[in-house]
Amino acid sequence: MYPLKVIWFFGLSGAGKSTLAEQVRLQISIDDQKVCLLDGDIIRKGINNNLGFSRDDRKENVRRISEICKILLQVDAIPIVAAITPYESHRLMVQNILGKDNITFVHVSCPIEECEKRDPKGLYKKARKGEIPNFTGITDVFETPNFDHFSVKTERDSIESCLDKILEYQRKPKVNI
Ligand code: ADX
Repeated sequence: MYPLKVIWFFGLSGAGKSTLAEQVRLQISIDDQKVCLLDGDIIRKGINNNLGFSRDDRKENVRRISEICKILLQVDAIPIVAAITPYESHRLMVQNILGKDNITFVHVSCPIEECEKRDPKGLYKKARKGEIPNFTGITDVFETPNFDHFSVKTERDSIESCLDKILEYQRKPKVNI
């Protein structure tokens, strides 16, 4: 059994947030645990389709996602979020909305060079050509976390190994691996 708390994946586009979040969702749902995946890309097509990528819009994006998480927790579902969440102050806001004990942040860490090489959606290429303004990692910042977050390194470790670490940490939080 996993604790009833939010698992919030953050990191650069292409780092592997959505992939890991989906794998964690599958694992957690095995025991008939209610679980709901909130992926930035999908949320932005629906409830957040009026938001862009300015600092304020990104803040509103994660604020709304946090509020949805609160509702899901009330019905005993484990919310899993995959969103870049590039600013430390926004991560703190998310933590304040949910309460420190109700959330685990997972930094999906991967060097920008590797994310750009993977470029699964071709967005880095477009950003380099100047076709996407404020693109995280290229023309907009991703602030390295400066409070102690659990992290996985997707350049170094396989998906399976990252998944094992996340599930173990979620069951029994301890030191960073
Ligand atoms: S966040 O910064 O507000 O947390 P979120 O995770 O919801 O971002 O959305 C990021 C996704 O939007 C990326 O995976 C990418 O597909 C798309 N996207 C479009 N424009 C941008 C941009 N300027 N910066 C980052 N991602 C963008």
